Amino acid sequence: MPNATLERTASAGHAPATYMPHAQGQAADRRMKEKAPADAPAKMGVRGLDLYYKDFQALKGINLEFPKNQVTALIGPSGCGKSTLLKSLNRMNDLVEGCRVEGEITLDGEDAYRSIDVNSLRRRVGMVFQQPNPFPMSVYDNVAFGPRTHGIKNRADLDEIVEQSLRDAAIWDEMKDRLKKNALGFSGGQQQRLCIARALAVRPEVLLMDEATSALDPISTAKIEDLVGELKSKYTVIMVTHNMLQALRVSDKTAFFLLGEMVEAGATDDIFTAPVDPRTADYVAGRFG
Ligand SMILES: Nc1ncnc2c1ncn2[C@@H]1O[C@H](COP(=O)(O)OP(=O)(O)OP(=O)(O)O)[C@@H](O)[C@H]1O
Ligand SMILES: [Mg+2]
Repeated sequence: MPNATLERTASAGHAPATYMPHAQGQAADRRMKEKAPADAPAKMGVRGLDLYYKDFQALKGINLEFPKNQVTALIGPSGCGKSTLLKSLNRMNDLVEGCRVEGEITLDGEDAYRSIDVNSLRRRVGMVFQQPNPFPMSVYDNVAFGPRTHGIKNRADLDEIVEQSLRDAAIWDEMKDRLKKNALGFSGGQQQRLCIARALAVRPEVLLMDEATSALDPISTAKIEDLVGELKSKYTVIMVTHNMLQALRVSDKTAFFLLGEMVEAGATDDIFTAPVDPRTADYVAGRFG
């Protein structure tokens, strides 16, 4: 079925995944972490999504649900539309001239383009990018930036938000005595966790991560992968990754994209061990892309 778009549910009946082409001990251990239930309700959903950059159609008829309190990974070769889809979820594409979106994107069942104010959408759906991009100011001011923009002025309230956000981003212990230091003076891995803290400070419901670890060393990457596993108890996470093992280790659900189409989506174990479409099988086995 070469052109089928498959959105599968539940993984319950499948044997544990065995696809671990380059797995090392630690990766394999973390891989076995308990996954969230497959029948979680959708936090966000995309139906019949077509996206055009002027005449070029970058996304074609995408149907996909992002289960609440789960991690969904978007995978596929360069240029297939992963970042485009991620950015359409919090309307970052509104800023791109000539970009046109057709179809429906929902947050808690509400239309993200017609019913929800764009500022409120971006507060509820936060984003972390590939390159850590802290503002050139102190750690404290970075994290307090969003809450201040939303009108929170009281110092005690800000202190509490800053501490909680840094704790949630697993970087409080490293930063607590250095809150006044310039954020640009930290390592890439620390800066990226600071950016996650900054995104969490406005209390989002969904966190979008676009190759958030690809610029980082393996230890920082492992820290962020562990962190994502913890964040999903409070947030719904949608992540783009080129790292197959990362998708396997971290995500509950995986969607595979090719040339603007979603080829197949389902429980991560199923996508890696029993893909339905031969193109998915080739990609996850590293045969192209
Ligand atoms: N602002 C833009 N204007 C025109 N075309 C764009 C724009 N942004 C992306 N595209 C095109 O849309 C397609 C999808 O791009 P996108 O960045 O979503 O891919 P991707 O899957 O994230 O790739 P990568 O893995 O390299 O990050 C590509 O063909 C790209 O050239
Ligand atoms: Mg991209």
